[in-house]
Amino acid sequence: MAVTLKVNGKTTTVDVAPDTPLLWVLRDVLDLKGTKYGCGIGQCGACTVHIDGVASRSCNRPISELAGGEVVTIEGLSVDGAHPVQRAWVELDVPQCGYCQAGQIMSASSLLSRTPRPTDTDIDRAMNGNICRCATYLRIRQAIHRAAQMAAADGNGGRRETGDGGQGTGESSFPKSLLTTRTGA
Ligand code: FES
Ligand code: FES
Repeated sequence: MAVTLKVNGKTTTVDVAPDTPLLWVLRDVLDLKGTKYGCGIGQCGACTVHIDGVASRSCNRPISELAGGEVVTIEGLSVDGAHPVQRAWVELDVPQCGYCQAGQIMSASSLLSRTPRPTDTDIDRAMNGNICRCATYLRIRQAIHRAAQMAAADGNGGRRETGDGGQGTGESSFPKSLLTTRTGA
């Protein structure tokens, strides 16, 4: 079955069995290996990507459901690692083994796209399904607050951050340009 969808900004047609999970298409057909296989049953979050702008599991989504859709993987989140979540992850040295981290970053960036200044409760709720066997949860939470600060600073023309611990004013200033994928040639 030929399915056409947009992956990381590029229109792509794949010819696979209709029940092939998106994760298999990404890794084995399109060679996008950043998205990881964990449980294969939608329970761990390692395979999280954005589907039509929302953090979604890719291990249990048949490709046939995605015709005309838009998928963003960790490779497409930014051209050069400049997305605020990626910068915050580096600054706070979040990963340990790293296996879960692509999924964590995709869930975190999806959260910030709809809740630019999340509370701890918002973060815990949004990240609840992303399992980390190395238990980096505290650094993940700190990094999401830091990413929110960075995004707010970017949205304010790069002025200095407020240093308010990420709690801020709740203003929605996450830069829209950073919520979109890089555009493919
Ligand atoms: Fe998809 Fe675990 S591999 S949720
Ligand atoms: Fe090792 Fe999360 S960093 S599983």
